[in-house]
Amino acid sequence: TPKADFAPRVLNWFNQHGRKNLPWQQDKTPYRVWISEIMLQQTQVATVIPYYQRFMASFPDVFALAAAEQDDVLAHWSGLGYYARARNMHKAAQQLVNDWDGEFPQTQEGVCELPGIGRSTAAAILSISRGQQTAILDGNVKRVLSRYHAIPTWPGEKKTENAMWQLAESYMPAERCGDYTQAMMDLGATLCTRSKPQCLLCPLQRDCDGRISGDPTLFPVKKPK
Ligand code: ADE
Repeated sequence: TPKADFAPRVLNWFNQHGRKNLPWQQDKTPYRVWISEIMLQQTQVATVIPYYQRFMASFPDVFALAAAEQDDVLAHWSGLGYYARARNMHKAAQQLVNDWDGEFPQTQEGVCELPGIGRSTAAAILSISRGQQTAILDGNVKRVLSRYHAIPTWPGEKKTENAMWQLAESYMPAERCGDYTQAMMDLGATLCTRSKPQCLLCPLQRDCDGRISGDPTLFPVKKPK
């Protein structure tokens, strides 16, 4: 596929098959998208939904979250696991209120300074909530790109990771940035899965070197011993 066809194919697939009615896909403010991205980092969508709704009912904005007792925030997390996520989020809310007047930063560098938010999560928040052209590279997208290009080196290597960031940025479209981000996550989560990819349903199948190689599950390649 010429590079120019990658995003249109992904977006066309998203139009037809993407999830568009999840609670965090309504009223996509930076705050709401941020909370959803942190909850979704290590937890499935179906599990997150009721937690997200309870969290938003109790802490509807960054001021409510910043003012909450840590124990109350952790109680809303009870059962989600990885509690450092909740502690970082609470601390970040206080930084947002104290240093940014409660406004989310507009730049990726600014967002990355908040505890618990790395480059990919910052890009997800800015693309989904503000339509900014910032590329994500989470585990799902790494799998999609390493298969699409049959990348022969381990993604844990810095050189490989850097190359994958370059690819991710080169495919990031200037329009529909948020939909594209969501589409890449959905593609990785629903079709390009770790052990049973559904290549026949994939909008990128025709040019996917991983599929063409015969066994897409060989990618991303394992850590060399
Ligand atoms: N995992 C992380 N972010 C996600 C999102 N926005 N949708 C689905 N899965 C995700």
